[in-house]
Amino acid sequence: MQDRINRIIEEVEQFRPSDREQVEAFRVKYLGRKGILADLFAEMKTLQADQKKAFGQLVNHLKTVAEARLEEFNSHFESDGDNRIPDGMDLSLPGYPLAKGSRHPVSLTRKKILDIFQRIGFVVADGPEIEDDWHNFTALNFPENHPARDMQDTFFIRQDEGGNSIALRTHTSSVQIRVLEHTRPPVRILAPGRVYRNEAISARAHCFFHQVEGFHIDKNVSFADMKQTLLYFAREMFGSEAGIRLRPSYFPFTEPSAEMDVSCNICGGKGCNVCKHTGWLEIMGCGMVDPNVLQNCGISPDEFSGYAFGMGIERIAMLLYNVKDLRLFSENDVRFLSQFSREQ
Ligand code: PHE
Repeated sequence: MQDRINRIIEEVEQFRPSDREQVEAFRVKYLGRKGILADLFAEMKTLQADQKKAFGQLVNHLKTVAEARLEEFNSHFESDGDNRIPDGMDLSLPGYPLAKGSRHPVSLTRKKILDIFQRIGFVVADGPEIEDDWHNFTALNFPENHPARDMQDTFFIRQDEGGNSIALRTHTSSVQIRVLEHTRPPVRILAPGRVYRNEAISARAHCFFHQVEGFHIDKNVSFADMKQTLLYFAREMFGSEAGIRLRPSYFPFTEPSAEMDVSCNICGGKGCNVCKHTGWLEIMGCGMVDPNVLQNCGISPDEFSGYAFGMGIERIAMLLYNVKDLRLFSENDVRFLSQFSREQ
């Protein structure tokens, strides 16, 4: 009896169908409702318990082999199936375009900025978007109740237990404090991230946008180091012909402070609508880190000095890609976003 089943197994293993009909015949013969396997299972019911086990195992083995073969035959005949072109199908028609995603221009610009500074030793750090008064203002040398806090219209969230206000950060300068409270100089840090300001939304202002903060603290870091680093940045970003100019400005956390302009990359400095005929575009705030800020982080201003700068990513993206309206960056209109699909 075992021989009989073994012979059937051999038969199944050696079966070579030459077309689909033979595959179907195979299925009916072995696996069909009235096929050999069905008969064998019926036969098993009539056996004594002691014979049942060995018989059952063999029959089950046969079943597994037959099913595996059938699957093999099916996939074989499927792949070399009917190659005729169905009536009415025009193979010369263009295919459906695959909707591919693309990087957001803010991400592209952020990456460009980070790459440029990372090449000269800056490393990326992070801080929270919901920030307390100390990190966003006080430690950065904004005096209590001083109008300087109004320079940046703040979204306040609540007061904490100690009566300190908790707010959405208005700038990434808060990351200066976050890093310096637990890292000793030398540090060269970049802090990209989203910031929030309570401003009316227009083509030139939004209630949230992105900044990259940078700072370098070490012994003997000078204003000249800052100027050279920022010139390097401007040339890497806008081309080797780019020039920079620093205008005196004011930030509570830097002294002296400056506003940096880059020569207009649209008209090459000759004057156009974009630079309002000045030949210059304002791209960031910067300055030497105020000694009070260092002191607030437990760093001696007698021993260490450094510079900091902060720029708006959207602002740079607008100049790079000639985008005229800030709102486009947050509306997620695919017609706008898909224009960046070739950018790396
Ligand atoms: N935090 C400033 C702003 O948001 C920019 C800045 C950063 C200025 C670092 C000087 C130094 O406008």
